[in-house]
Formats: sequence, C-alpha cells, structure tokens
Amino acid sequence: MKQVININHVKKQVSIGNHKQDLEILHDVSLTVNAGEFLSIIGPSGAGKSTLLNVMSGLSRPTSGQVILLGTDPYHLRAAKAAAFRRDQIGFIFQSYNLIPALPAFDNIVLPLRLAHKKINREKIYKLLKEINFEADPSHFVSALSGGEQQKVAIARVLVANSRIIFADEPTGALDTVSRRIIFGLLRKLANQGACIVMVTHDIEMAAATDVAITLRDGRLEKIIKKPTATELFQALSEERV
Ligand SMILES: Nc1ncnc2c1ncn2[C@@H]1O[C@H](COP(=O)(O)OP(=O)(O)OP(=O)(O)O)[C@@H](O)[C@H]1O
Ligand SMILES: [Mg+2]
Repeated sequence: MKQVININHVKKQVSIGNHKQDLEILHDVSLTVNAGEFLSIIGPSGAGKSTLLNVMSGLSRPTSGQVILLGTDPYHLRAAKAAAFRRDQIGFIFQSYNLIPALPAFDNIVLPLRLAHKKINREKIYKLLKEINFEADPSHFVSALSGGEQQKVAIARVLVANSRIIFADEPTGALDTVSRRIIFGLLRKLANQGACIVMVTHDIEMAAATDVAITLRDGRLEKIIKKPTATELFQALSEERV
C-alpha cells in the first residue's frame, strides 16, 4: 500500500503568557496513512486533535519531528511552492469553515479551481449541492448563510477539488443526521477511489465507519485501532488513565 502521510516523532510547543512559557501540546506523535485509507482522530476537547491536523497538513510547523506528504516535506518548500502543493494536492475542511464571507457560496466553492486554472463544471457543482441537500441559493453571500449551510459550502469546495489528501476537522459538526450521513458517504467514496482522508470527529458512530481510528489524549497518541467498532471506541475514550 502506498504511504501518503508519514509523520515521525512530531512535537508541537507553543509559547504562552507574558513570560513566554513553553507549553507542549503534542508529544512525540508518529503515524502513517496510506492511499485509499480513511482515518479518524478522536479524543476529548483540548486533546490536540486540531493541532495534530494542522501540523500533519502542512499548515503549522512542528517544533520537532518530520512531516512527509506524498513524499514531500511541506515545511521545506519555499512559500510559493508550498502554496501550490497545498492547492494541487490537499483539501481542507476547517472546524471554523474558513470561507470568504463577502463572496457568494458558489464562488467560494470554485475558488480553488479558479486559482488552479481548472475548468469549472457548473452542472456538476449544482448536482453535488443537491446531493448534499444544500437548500440555500448558491449566489447568496456566505455571510448570509446558516452555520450548517456554510459547512456544506466548505465541504462542497473540497469535494469538487479532486484532492489526493483531505483533512477535515469535525466536518459535519453543524449538520443534521441525514446530511451528516450523506457527506460521510461522499468522503467514504473518495477514499474508496484512492484519496487519503483524515477526519477529526466527536461522532463515535462515524469514526467506527472509518478504516482506522486513533485516540488522542493530552497531546499523546494513545491507541491506533484498525477497523474500529463503536463499542471499542467508546471504551477507549472512557478508559480512566492511571
Ligand atoms: N496557539 C496556541 N496557544 C496556546 N495554547 C494552544 C494553542 N493552540 C492550541 N492550544 C492548546 O492546546 C490544546 C489542544 O488544542 P486543540 O485545539 O488542538 O484541541 P482539540 O482536540 O482540537 O479540541 P476541540 O475538540 O475542542 O476542538 C488545548 O489545551 C489548547 O488550549
Ligand atoms: Mg479542535
């Protein structure tokens, strides 16, 4: 199987407070994700899930350790090359959506395609929006949409981009059960077609439908569970630490 993401002994420290004290929020995390694999990251609030996703995806440089995506260390690319690498190979669905409020929903969705000078297939995009139950008007500004609709715009933007790696931070947190299942199904399909998907989620049922789940606690990788069941994940999350 082809390794797409490789992180080795990754640590992340941040400076806090007036005295610039160092706080380590990721401790020595190593992990491999293969092509076609759907990996979920679970763990309590504050465990470091978003931090890990940002470090893994080339957005936040680790304090030490190495990140390799598709054979490339994104932190060793010059700024322009790093931006092109991200644009061409990687899709992000952020916990905070990261949309441009002053642009219509449609323009937000096609922005990565426009930046990459790729063809925009309007019909395909409208079909996708219908498939994910996006009921607002795509010509409306993002700032006028509800949280769930904004989340769907962020998801559509990634689904149309054909990225080889998708990082998603609680991509369905603001959605109803039906939309959540549909979107999970679309991500699953992309993984089956060879994409590599890394998703942070609080939803144990959803994590149980991924290929591998990892549990994080206090910035440490606790468990790697292949073909997880909901019961196993629930137990892993509720275990008391000694
Ligand atoms: N830039 C920063 N400066 C200081 N502390 C930070 C910074 N970024 C993250 N942290 C701290 O690191 C820890 C992990 O944060 P992170 O956002 O990765 O958690 P999370 O697992 O994604 O939580 P949630 O489930 O609530 O989204 C938290 O205690 C957070 O307060
Ligand atoms: Mg988070």
